[in-house]
Amino acid sequence: MVRGRSFASARTDGAGGERDRPESWRREWESLSAEIRACRLCPLGSIRTHAVVYRGSASPRVVFVGEAPGAEEDRRGVPFVGRSGRRLDAAIERVGLRPGEFGVLNVLKCRPPGNRFDRSAARTCRPYLDRQLALLAPRALVSLGASALRSLDPQAPAVLQAAGRPRPWRTIALFPLVHPAAALRSRRFAERWDSDVARLGRWLALGAKPL
Ligand code: URA
Repeated sequence: MVRGRSFASARTDGAGGERDRPESWRREWESLSAEIRACRLCPLGSIRTHAVVYRGSASPRVVFVGEAPGAEEDRRGVPFVGRSGRRLDAAIERVGLRPGEFGVLNVLKCRPPGNRFDRSAARTCRPYLDRQLALLAPRALVSLGASALRSLDPQAPAVLQAAGRPRPWRTIALFPLVHPAAALRSRRFAERWDSDVARLGRWLALGAKPL
């Protein structure tokens, strides 16, 4: 069995490594992805170019959870493919995750105007995220930015307090990071990003155990 074959970033919703998963899993994943692509449950559905579903492994150890697609993601239908995505991919490589070991998705599947996180849309979108995570069944989540953290864990402290320390999330663990876009904008956030990514690497190397 080939565990965690590498993802194809050009695919909008394909999870690489489907061969690890039974046919029933594949059908369920494809059907959920099609539902997301066709979704019109909130106003963002009518202004998007593409709904942005997932990129990565069908059997990820770690799933990175971003906030919402930006302009490039909306254009291409793939999460984190712009400048923030390059920053994220460099960090993923740095922490030693291979392509078959991780996945990337967002809380919001459609781009909000002005890239402002839309909480009402996030509530509507939430069942998609929960269903994706239930199917992917990762060992750990990494939230990217304050809105992703708060969406996953409304009780979490402010992102600068929470970042860099794993916390319990359901039966697994959640490791918050600041958003890679913040690291591109500010030196202070860039330093924080770098030190927390180093912590993430050490934590993963120790097995990313539930807390
Ligand atoms: N920022 C996000 O939170 N997600 C993306 O997919 C791109 C930028």
